[in-house]
Amino acid sequence: MAQSLYDLLRSWMLPLKEIDRLIPRKGRIVDLGCGEGVTAKYLAHIKSRTIIGVDNNKKRLQKSTLKNLQFKLADIRKYPLKKADTVIFSDVLHHLSYVDQKVLLAKVAKALKKNRLLLIKEIDTKEFVRSSLSRFWDFVFYPKDKIYYHDSEKFKTELEKLGFIVEVIRASRLFPGSTTLFVCQKS
Ligand SMILES: C[S@@+](CC[C@H](N)C(=O)[O-])C[C@H]1O[C@@H](n2cnc3c(N)ncnc32)[C@H](O)[C@@H]1O
Repeated sequence: MAQSLYDLLRSWMLPLKEIDRLIPRKGRIVDLGCGEGVTAKYLAHIKSRTIIGVDNNKKRLQKSTLKNLQFKLADIRKYPLKKADTVIFSDVLHHLSYVDQKVLLAKVAKALKKNRLLLIKEIDTKEFVRSSLSRFWDFVFYPKDKIYYHDSEKFKTELEKLGFIVEVIRASRLFPGSTTLFVCQKS
């Protein structure tokens, strides 16, 4: 699929305006599992942000043409987060096993200082129809992957246990899928 067509499709699937509104206007923002970097590129329009997109798929990772945007090839489970001010997971966690998610989220919680932000875009199994549609999209794009979704209420509790104040936002109603944002502020 041509890159710009993929970017267009992905932009439709993602609540980019909402994500942009929630992400701080400055600081080091690490987009873990950035893929083609649709979110990272969108956020980089604010020059006081430094965006690092990390992905382990060489074919998806692009070359940045922007000064405040870098892409890095790495396994997000091993990527150092000490300098991060904001961490983003956009449709990434459900590609990791529940155990890996737990370990990685605990690592993020440990790395982020007070009041810093973790933003997660995920599928909510509580939205039965929408999450079933998301399962269809995941099957189309990732037929070989095992998928690990969450129930938003239980996931919120898990994130709170890690020391976050969590707000759950149903971000977009237009896309036929679940677009739930977990806005997690470190307490
Ligand atoms: C559904 S895509 C989402 C891409 C992007 N975040 C977005 O919203 O458009 C999931 C991405 O996570 C990446 N990914 C999955 N497991 C990973 C890992 N262990 N390390 C780095 N990237 C990983 C995949 O390569 C893929 O690009």
